[in-house]
Amino acid sequence: MTPFQQNAIPYGSKVLITGANGFIASHIIAVLLDLGYTVRGTVRTPTPWLDDYYLEKWGPHRFESVLVPDFQKPNSFDECVQGVSGIIHVAQALPSSPVVQDVDDAVSYTVNGNVKLLEAASTQSSVKRVVFTSSIVAAGYPKGPEFKLDVDSWDECVSQDARSSVDRSAYRECKAQGEFQAWKWVEKNQPAFEFNTVLPWFTLGKVLHPKIGGSTMKYVTGLLQGNTLPFKFLPLPWFVDVVDTARLHAIALFCPTVRSERVFAAASPFVWEEVIQILRKIQPDNQSIPEPPRDERMTVGEVIPVARAAKLLAENFGQLGWTTMETCLEGGIKKDSAK
Ligand SMILES: NC(=O)c1ccc[n+]([C@@H]2O[C@H](COP(=O)([O-])OP(=O)(O)OC[C@H]3O[C@@H](n4cnc5c(N)ncnc54)[C@H](OP(=O)(O)O)[C@@H]3O)[C@@H](O)[C@H]2O)c1
Repeated sequence: MTPFQQNAIPYGSKVLITGANGFIASHIIAVLLDLGYTVRGTVRTPTPWLDDYYLEKWGPHRFESVLVPDFQKPNSFDECVQGVSGIIHVAQALPSSPVVQDVDDAVSYTVNGNVKLLEAASTQSSVKRVVFTSSIVAAGYPKGPEFKLDVDSWDECVSQDARSSVDRSAYRECKAQGEFQAWKWVEKNQPAFEFNTVLPWFTLGKVLHPKIGGSTMKYVTGLLQGNTLPFKFLPLPWFVDVVDTARLHAIALFCPTVRSERVFAAASPFVWEEVIQILRKIQPDNQSIPEPPRDERMTVGEVIPVARAAKLLAENFGQLGWTTMETCLEGGIKKDSAK
């Protein structure tokens, strides 16, 4: 039997990806197209440039975008799930307001969208696997330099009454409750498909198209213009390369041994000083690159499941170790890009 036949979803099958125009989703699509899958990607507004990008690189009939403008509408996913063998739900459905005023509303919005997708998937016998993009914050973002995260780690908002907390974050609670409630739904409804999640940490690397916003990579390119914002709100960072993150999503989709699993995507801890040194190496004449924060402390925490994730990358992609910060930033930043 060839590896082709052993996959949970054979190469050549059609896979649905939500939020296809996003930083991470676009890489997941590229990995899947390279492997031989065809992809249907949901977008909220028409994105002909995205269709053109995949058409140019992978040829005709490999990628199609479909409009799903609102995950909250009844039957919003009914059409796009038809005929697909797998689904990777990457989009984070926060309400469109840039500042989410009400955390409880944001959580309901996310959970509702997630459940609608799970329900739609369960109506299709063709769907063998569903993968959700969660986040390390769902496992409980560390509050100090020493911590231990494992597959059963959850942010406290899933077990406590988060409404009494003064330190609420819509994003953190949406990711944690979004993933937790999805597992609960699967446990209760026992769908025919296998369900896995991927929990990336701070994801960096190449942005595939100028019309893709760049998400977290934008924070690092902002440093090239002297914007020190990321120093302030990302304490204790670990990072992961966007291709490693994308490959782990693909593995969660096709690898027969990954079943009911939370896959952690996190390469290693870093300090901003390391990032600044690499940026200066890439753009030696750029005077806008700031000094790193003083007195940075490298985290000594443990993320137990990353050993398993590294093994999965090696077994499925022949990859020896996580992509390094240097390679990751070199991929994401052009040497000659303007300051
Ligand atoms: N980047 C990281 O470091 C990181 C780490 C952990 C987890 N994640 C997770 O990875 C996923 C992708 O993140 P990313 O960094 O690639 O972000 P991104 O580039 O900003 O992509 C986000 C995608 O979600 C879509 N989206 C936003 N609000 C939506 C809504 N209300 N309904 C439907 N779609 C909506 C966006 O569509 P529009 O373009 O139409 O707004 C876009 O396609 C998210 O689930 C995020 O939480 C990211």
